[in-house]
Amino acid sequence: MANLGVEFAGVEFKNPVLIASSSLTNHPTKLRRLEEAGAGGIVTKLASNAVPPRVDRQPYRSVMLGNGAWTVAGGDRRLTLEEGVDLIKTAKKELHIPIIANVNGKSYFADSWVEAGLALEKAGADMLEIPLSAHIYHEEEDGIPVFTGDSIGQYPELVGAMTRALKDAVKIPVIAKVSPYVIDVSLLGLAAKQGGADGLTAAARAGGFAGVDIRNGGKPIFPGIELEDGTPAQSLSGPMGAPSTHVSPYYTIVLAKNVGLPLSSVGGIMDWEIAVQRLMVGATTAQLCSTVYLNGLKAVTDCVAGMNRFLDEYGYRSPADIIGLGLPYIVDREQLVFHPLKAVITDTSWNGWDEVVERVQGDCLALTMQGGVPVIDQDACTGCSLCYWYAPEGAVRIDVQK
Ligand SMILES: Cc1cc2nc3c(=O)[nH]c(=O)nc-3n(C[C@H](O)[C@H](O)[C@H](O)COP(=O)(O)O)c2cc1C
Ligand code: SF4
Repeated sequence: MANLGVEFAGVEFKNPVLIASSSLTNHPTKLRRLEEAGAGGIVTKLASNAVPPRVDRQPYRSVMLGNGAWTVAGGDRRLTLEEGVDLIKTAKKELHIPIIANVNGKSYFADSWVEAGLALEKAGADMLEIPLSAHIYHEEEDGIPVFTGDSIGQYPELVGAMTRALKDAVKIPVIAKVSPYVIDVSLLGLAAKQGGADGLTAAARAGGFAGVDIRNGGKPIFPGIELEDGTPAQSLSGPMGAPSTHVSPYYTIVLAKNVGLPLSSVGGIMDWEIAVQRLMVGATTAQLCSTVYLNGLKAVTDCVAGMNRFLDEYGYRSPADIIGLGLPYIVDREQLVFHPLKAVITDTSWNGWDEVVERVQGDCLALTMQGGVPVIDQDACTGCSLCYWYAPEGAVRIDVQK
């Protein structure tokens, strides 16, 4: 039987399934339920000594986008530093799993970050996670705009400086949740490493937009949010959940290959198979968020159980055995050698071939129906494999021509 325990950035977790910072983690009752459901650790809701008066005092409003995608209109209410301290104190009294405090300070004023970090350490946090890509808004100090949230996360110098300030102040490990709003995320990871980070969270969610009501003059699709003068309004808000399943691993992989710090992967981890995927591409822990909102606490229990079954079935003794297994196979595109492929139909009797031909005909010049039977012109087949994916399993074979 596998032992699910992992060591991540200097802290021992009973399993690699963590809960990401969000409103799921802003209340002691929710934390208790998450522990009971089997979470290996919890990242608490952002506590900050820079809570803007209006924007970040709102509870989130969900907007369902379908197919496992959703977003929150206008962000989510963050905790004041005092609320964060109380939450951590209660959690440390009542729970037995590691508690990671998601924390930031005001703009790029390192003293403010340090003050917040020290308070949460004193409250009992086992680790700090600094979200370097919190909500976008701009403040002014003596009439001069100062950096907050996203803008800090985009500058390696500031990432390094905030990490260093906290590392020099606290004794517990500090991990940096890096911003995806950059061309090369490794620069941020390396800056955090230089600042002394013990690990990285890969990565905050990327930008996006829920949509407008096309049948209502382009107004917001969600009611109850407006400008002070009563005009309906909304902000940009990236999709979460399933859309990130194949976006977030990009950051995990790039950071795993280029930075060499322990990684916690987050974004679109909807089930145990995706969690195993993230470990195989270099993460030590996997953070669940959207799946818990969309599927309940069972998502946590199922993820832990599924990972356990998987390790047993394939003879791995612990998560450490699979961390990074897939990385050596992920290389620069220029290094790839493509062998020619040809599609061969192995079941002409299936009655859905007309539809496959219709679907692929935008690009495929090889597959046609002749006398009610699908035929592939081998010379014209480019091996694109579209027909393979549309046909049922076993109806098309792809031959590799070496
Ligand atoms: C309502 C809500 C509030 C969130 N609050 C925070 C936060 O305070 N700090 C933070 O670093 N991330 C926050 N996040 C982002 C999540 O931690 C996570 O990175 C993101 O949702 C991507 O994971 P997912 O695709 O599984 O949802 C929040 C997400 C949601 C849905
Ligand atoms: S592999 Fe691509 S090109 Fe070849 S038959 Fe199928 S769809 Fe057409």
